Amino acid sequence: MFDDLAIARALHVAAVVHWIGGVLFVTFVVLPAIERLAEPAARLALFDAIERRFAFAARISTTLAGAAGFYMTEVMGLWSRFADPHFWWMHAMVGLWAIFTLMLFIAEPLFLHAWFDARAARDPDGTFRLVTRLHRVLSTVAVVVILGATAGAHGYLPL
Ligand code: HEM
Repeated sequence: MFDDLAIARALHVAAVVHWIGGVLFVTFVVLPAIERLAEPAARLALFDAIERRFAFAARISTTLAGAAGFYMTEVMGLWSRFADPHFWWMHAMVGLWAIFTLMLFIAEPLFLHAWFDARAARDPDGTFRLVTRLHRVLSTVAVVVILGATAGAHGYLPL
């Protein structure tokens, strides 16, 4: 039997795995490898080349995750959850998605890239450390959101 909600949930989780898995890989594998293998002046160019390819794929998975997420919210009639702090993980999902969507579709193409290049020319070492810190913060938040959303969606609401 056709089950649109099960399909939406499967697409949602697959998109999140691709997108957040990529962010974790960049944070905990690519950035440390670049730091170890490349001279400070070459690090950002290398990071930029790798991240640019991932940013393209991540635009597709964030869009799919958001579309499937809002579809489930609408079809399952879950909008009232946003008025209940027990469902903090629903707010967290949308908040994290909004940050990435703004970054990938608006900030990066409009001004972030130029700002980043200018800062990198002035202070390559500090800029690389800033990039690493930001990736660690977003990765940590993403893991908390995944734990909260999975536990919450399966009826476990400790907070
Ligand atoms: C526009 C943004 C998003 C919306 C509207 C949304 C919406 C939803 C909805 C409605 C559910 C099903 C809840 C239930 O069954 O009670 C869900 C599940 C889930 N979402 Fe999201 N979500 C969004 C973004 C995210 C993000 C950014 C992540 C991870 C970083 C995420 C991870 C998950 C996980 C892991 C589940 C649990 C799947 C399961 O075990 O059944 N979602 N989401």
